[in-house]
Amino acid sequence: MKSEPIILVNKLSKEHKMHRKEEGVKGSLKALVHREYTTIPAVKDVSFSIHPGELVGFIGSNGAGKTTTLKMLSGLLEPSGGSVEVLGYRPAERKVGYLKQISFVMGQKNQLLWDIPAIDSFNLNRDIYEVPEKHYREVLDELVELLDLKDILHTQVRRLSLGQRMKCEFVAALIHTPKVLFLDEPTLGLDVVVQQRIREFIKAYNKRYGATVMLTSHYMDDVKEICERIIIIDHGKVFFDGKIDQLIQQYATHKTLNLTLAETATRQNLAKYGDIIELAGPTVILKTPTPKTSMIAAELLANFKVIDVTISEPRLEDIVREVITQRVILDS
Ligand SMILES: Nc1ncnc2c1ncn2[C@@H]1O[C@H](COP(=O)(O)OP(=O)(O)O)[C@@H](O)[C@H]1O
Ligand SMILES: [Mg+2]
Repeated sequence: MKSEPIILVNKLSKEHKMHRKEEGVKGSLKALVHREYTTIPAVKDVSFSIHPGELVGFIGSNGAGKTTTLKMLSGLLEPSGGSVEVLGYRPAERKVGYLKQISFVMGQKNQLLWDIPAIDSFNLNRDIYEVPEKHYREVLDELVELLDLKDILHTQVRRLSLGQRMKCEFVAALIHTPKVLFLDEPTLGLDVVVQQRIREFIKAYNKRYGATVMLTSHYMDDVKEICERIIIIDHGKVFFDGKIDQLIQQYATHKTLNLTLAETATRQNLAKYGDIIELAGPTVILKTPTPKTSMIAAELLANFKVIDVTISEPRLEDIVREVITQRVILDS
């Protein structure tokens, strides 16, 4: 890519300070005089850079440090060490010029006011972000169209479904057409239809406005469909940064062979072909090394009465899980 990176993260770390208090009244009194803290190293050593217009999936297990990193990028948390630069700003300074160009959407937190219609919250954000009226109208129309929200703009937010609310959260977060979007679990808990709609919307927004998107999600379908590049973080450290294809090539060492046989086979007969994952009557599932899979399939077809055979690639979530667990084993 020719352009300069828009997000620069270098050796970033964050220790959350937790106030430690002994139990009971005595403990509370002691804590008044003498505060003790425990520190939790949430992010240890994170470096990456992102170019304008990229769609990056930021993934890892619970507690890996994703939200903490996104909070530092959006300026909600001050780093303990290292540096972050986004659009030439230091996010923690929370300069207006910076905040006007970014947005942070958290699936579990809402910014819309509960008791008023969504349109009133949009108007409020127009004023806060000083969006010129004409531009506001254009963007609003476009977002409402993309998310199919025309009929519910004037409904009190508390009466909307979770999916409708989340779509409205997106409009509220994007009405100032930010250049950089931080999305933290934006599809959490939504039904599959709304999830799909939001995925398409994120891609469309990226295309339409050239926005840079960094997204965390537990749903690998989100990541597969939206992102080309993924950054995997574990225990506060980045251990993979690259294209999804590259991850699959590097780590998907096995495929799965699913067979339906016309006869029952024994473990003994099948063991030499691969790891037996399932053997239930005529159904056999074998795990086989990727480069040998087609050869093994051919041998099985020659040696057994096979009714049906399919070969499946490992799912992204399985690869990610496997890579993370392997790392835990290697590290300990
Ligand atoms: N405000 C906080 N105070 C103390 N510890 C925190 C706080 N926020 C997160 N943590 C801890 O920091 C680690 C990373 O959390 P987080 O960034 O939320 O991970 P993720 O988003 O990947 O699930 C976890 O061990 C979590 O318990
Ligand atoms: Mg999180």
